[in-house]
Amino acid sequence: MIHTSQQVAVQGAPPSSSKALSLVPAGTQGTRQIFTSERSLTGVRVHRRRTRRSPEGIAELPPPTAKLLRLHTICPYYTMFPLKFPFEALKDADDGDWVLDPFCGRGTTTFAARLRGLPSVGIDSNPVAAAVAAAKLVAPRLRDVIAIAEDALASDECDDVPTGRFWDLCYHPETLVGTCKLRRRLLSRCKSDAEIALRALILGILHGPRQKGPPTYLSSQMPRTYSSKPASAIRYWERHHILQPPRVDVLDAVTRRAHFTLAEVPPATPGLVSFGDSRRVNLSPPGETRCAWIVTSPPYFGMRTYRPDQWLRNWFLGGPPHVDYSQEGQLAHHADGFAEQLGRVWSNVASACVANARLVVRFGCIPSSPVKPQELIIRSLESSGRSWRLVSVRDGGSAGNGKRQSDQFGRTTQAAKQEVDIVAVLED
Ligand SMILES: C[S@@+](CC[C@H](N)C(=O)[O-])C[C@H]1O[C@@H](n2cnc3c(N)ncnc32)[C@H](O)[C@@H]1O
Repeated sequence: MIHTSQQVAVQGAPPSSSKALSLVPAGTQGTRQIFTSERSLTGVRVHRRRTRRSPEGIAELPPPTAKLLRLHTICPYYTMFPLKFPFEALKDADDGDWVLDPFCGRGTTTFAARLRGLPSVGIDSNPVAAAVAAAKLVAPRLRDVIAIAEDALASDECDDVPTGRFWDLCYHPETLVGTCKLRRRLLSRCKSDAEIALRALILGILHGPRQKGPPTYLSSQMPRTYSSKPASAIRYWERHHILQPPRVDVLDAVTRRAHFTLAEVPPATPGLVSFGDSRRVNLSPPGETRCAWIVTSPPYFGMRTYRPDQWLRNWFLGGPPHVDYSQEGQLAHHADGFAEQLGRVWSNVASACVANARLVVRFGCIPSSPVKPQELIIRSLESSGRSWRLVSVRDGGSAGNGKRQSDQFGRTTQAAKQEVDIVAVLED
């Protein structure tokens, strides 16, 4: 059930019941900061950061070039929202309020919560997104990150080097062997802050454009936001006579990138990031705690390509050396099915939240979509079987503003339909 009578802007005090959350949750006390990696019955891997208590957060976002924000740039991801969006949404949160993002993508909400000094839970059904978002919780020592890379690259063991025209043109043979050694090492174990940071860092430099000066990316000319499909990449390289991939020193590229990205990281907060389907997995924080805030951006209606568009990064995480077109764990994209399945996520979200939890959603549709974004969200909230009171619906601007990464690779993209920002409060 959804009440639409109160169409007011989001202002004023946060939900009163959220004050009950100001304690560190049961089971997370302790003086050491550790990561554990677990497998639940459904095979979902969880990255959990345990800290003694949350640090004080910052009240204002520093300029985008600030060292403090570099960790957030560790790896790009499609259709992420700007950091300012979740950061502003959380301005009225109380100390200790837990923040949930059931479609966490690259962990923008996770990182914004950390900057505010708040604990958070993030879930995504794309392994690449979950691996990148997990890195938004870590506080590794730079020398540990580099030492793991050095050890792995010094190893003689390297099997599973992919072969074929795409791989020959994408990576220099030595660069590919180095990348495979790191892959092997991180697939065998990825639990510590340093390992999780290194994994996300390599995902971030796995492919990207060629530039002047020492290379940032390991590949030949590629977009950095998404992985081009093998056939179109080969066509592009052949058409432009880019037939010799650069010989990139993997350790040097990792070291330079680590120095840049990890120069200064914000104080760590407790948190969880897991790979899973938000219609089904338990979204609650540890212990008896419940979330007071949900700040999220569901997959844009009609956007089905989150997993295939990240196929090369997915390979690094243990996936196949070719495009995986499966839609496992992703919401269906026909209007009725989408609203109903998103409704299941809101129902699951409600079970992980306190009464009066505040939901802040940015949502859009791809250009060919016949439906309006706000209508879909309202239908999904209605179908959740829970009582959400709609507080505001606002124009969120167009996702097509600004230059697209994909333009670099000659792929034309149409401007996205207008986005909407919707705020609702959980009433039961
Ligand atoms: C618009 S993106 C989120 C981007 C995020 N706000 C950020 O800034 O990076 C939507 C995400 O929802 C994920 N997704 C789709 N269906 C899902 C499901 N059933 N459960 C969890 N995540 C899902 C996609 O993999 C994608 O990463």
